[in-house]
Amino acid sequence: MCGIVGYIGSKPVKEILIDGLRELEYRGYDSAGIAVLQNHQFSLFKAVGKLINLEEKAQSYESTGFSVGIGHTRWATHGKPTELNAHPHVGQNSYVVHNGIIENYQELKAMLTSKGVQFLSQTDTEVIVHLFEYHLKTSPTPFDAFTKTLEELEGAYAILLVNASADNTIFFAKHGSPMILGRNREGETLFGSSDAALIGKCNEVIYLEDGHYGFASSDTVALFDSKNVSIALNFTPLSENKLSAQKEGFRFFMEKEIYEQSTVLSDTLMGRLHDETVYFEELDSSLFTGISEIKLCACGTSYHAALTASYLFERHSRIKTSVEIASEFRYREPLLTPDTLFVVISQSGETADTLESLKMAKKAGLKTLVICNVDNSSMVRLADASILTRAGIEKGVASTKAFATQVAVLWMLSLFIAHERSTLTPSDLAHQIKILRSIPSIVKVDVTLHEQLRRLSKRYLHGHGFFFIGRDVFFPLALEGALKLKEISYLHAEGYPSGEMKHGPIALADPELFTIALLPQHKLYDKTKSNVEELSARDSTICSISPLDFDKADDHIRTHMHDDYMQEFFEMMVVLQLLSMEIAVRLGNDVDMPRNLAKSVTVE
Ligand code: AGP
Repeated sequence: MCGIVGYIGSKPVKEILIDGLRELEYRGYDSAGIAVLQNHQFSLFKAVGKLINLEEKAQSYESTGFSVGIGHTRWATHGKPTELNAHPHVGQNSYVVHNGIIENYQELKAMLTSKGVQFLSQTDTEVIVHLFEYHLKTSPTPFDAFTKTLEELEGAYAILLVNASADNTIFFAKHGSPMILGRNREGETLFGSSDAALIGKCNEVIYLEDGHYGFASSDTVALFDSKNVSIALNFTPLSENKLSAQKEGFRFFMEKEIYEQSTVLSDTLMGRLHDETVYFEELDSSLFTGISEIKLCACGTSYHAALTASYLFERHSRIKTSVEIASEFRYREPLLTPDTLFVVISQSGETADTLESLKMAKKAGLKTLVICNVDNSSMVRLADASILTRAGIEKGVASTKAFATQVAVLWMLSLFIAHERSTLTPSDLAHQIKILRSIPSIVKVDVTLHEQLRRLSKRYLHGHGFFFIGRDVFFPLALEGALKLKEISYLHAEGYPSGEMKHGPIALADPELFTIALLPQHKLYDKTKSNVEELSARDSTICSISPLDFDKADDHIRTHMHDDYMQEFFEMMVVLQLLSMEIAVRLGNDVDMPRNLAKSVTVE
C-alpha cells in the first residue's frame, strides 16, 4: 500500500527520502517518486517498480544545503502503475503526494478541466495539486489556498504539498489515512505515513488525528484541527529501537497484527467494492471463460481460508468447488481438466508445497490464480493472475491478519464470479457488499472483551485437549482456532464440524476436555446447539462463543448481535485469536516465534 515521507532540513535530501521509503517497502508498492524543492527550483524523479529503479534515475542528483522534499511509494488504485501515475503529482509550481482515495475527484476534475487545466495522469490525486493552484490565484497566501482545497476534498487522505513560492515549507493534512509529523534535536522536521519511516531520524512525533492540517517550515510548525482552530504541538517521544517501535506499544507482533485487522481489511476492500458489484483491477473476466469448476489449494491457515471460500463459492457463485491440501495434492495423481480454475492461496507466496502444486496445475494447462500477500513472490510471478490481500507484512508466525484478508478477498471473489454468472440478484449482491463494508468496524478489538479473554485464559491452561467446533463456515473457523491455539500454546487442540462429534470424538468427552463452541445466531444455531448439548451431557467443559445465551455453557463469551453470519464469523475470528494468544502468554511461551515453526515453509 502507498507510503509517504517528507523532510525539511539541510542533510542530503534524496538519501533521507529514499531511506524513509525503504522502511515503508513492506507495505507493497509498484512505483515510487520524490520531489525536492531548493531555491525555488524543483527536481523530480519517478520510477516504476522497486526503489532501486528510482535510485538509478536519481543517481546523478546531489543536494547541498537547505531543502524540502516529499516522497511516495504508490500502490495503484486509480490508473495503472506507470511513471505518469506515480507520485509526486505536478501542477505549474507545486507538487503533491497523497495516500487514500479522493472520492469526488471526477467532479473536481470536470470543474478544473472546464477552466482549462490539463491533467497528465489517471489518478484521483492529481486533482489536489490543480485545485490548490486554482485557489492560489485568488488567495492571499499558499496556506489559504491549501485550506480552501481541503474544504473541497471528499474521501480519505494523507497529503503533503509543496509550492515554489514557499520554498521552506511543507503543507500537510490528514483525514482517514495515517500521517505522523516528527522532529529531531537538529531542528529538522520529517513526515511519515508510518513511524517506521521516522525511527532513528526523529526523537519525538505527533500522530496526527483526522481533520488535522497545517504547515511546517524551517523554523515553525502550525497545526489546526477540523474546526480550523490552532492547536498545541503535543509531541510524544519516539522509540529509537526499531523492533520495539515497530510493535507500536503492543507486547507482541501477533497482538499488534490482531489489533490492526480493522485497518488492513479497509485496505483490502479499498477500491474493490462498488454498489452492486465487486471490482478487481487485476482481474480480466476472460479468466473465467470456459470455467465450470474451481479448485482451491493451500496449506495451514491459508487452507482454512480456502475451505471457508468453498462454502461461499458454491453458495454465491453456484460453481462446483473443491479444496486441496497442497502437500496431498502433489502426490495423489489428481485428475485435472481444463475447465477448472486452479486457485492457490498463500500469505507468503513461497510455500514449497503450494508453489509446486501451482506448477503442476500450470503444466496440466489449467488457468491459475493466486491470492497472496506478497507482491513479486514466486507464486505471483508464476500464476496467470493474482489478487493481493494487502495485509502488510505479517511478522507473527501465527497468522492472523493474513487469514482475515484472505477470507475477505475470497468472499469478494465469490461475489465477482456471482456477478459474472448472474447467480445472485442485484439486491442480494448489494446486501453482500453492505455486509462486507461493515467488516473493518466489526474486527476492531473491544478492549473490554480482550480483558475478559485475558481473565478467562487462566481456566484453560491444563486438561487433555480442546475441541473447537462449528458448522458451515464456522467449521473452517474452528479448524483455524484450533491451529492458532496449537501453534502458540503447544496444547492439543482439534477442529471439528460439530455434527461429526457423535461419530467418534465424543468418546473423549470429560471435564478435562474443553469444547470451544462457535454458536452463531445466523447459521444453523439450533443444529449446533444440539451438538454442544450432547458434549455438555457427557461432562465436557463448554466455552460458548455466541451473541445468544447458552444455559449449558461453563463459560460464555458474548459476541454482538449482527445481521449476517459473516459478520459473526469475523467477530468470532478475533475472539479465537485473542483467546489463543492470552493462553500462550500465561504459559510463558514465545508468542511471535513459537517452537519448531517457521513463517515461510519453503521446504517440503
Ligand atoms: C499459520 O498460523 C501458519 N503459520 C501456517 O499454517 C501457514 O498458514 C502455512 O504455512 C501456509 O503459509 P502461506 O500462507 O505463506 O502459504
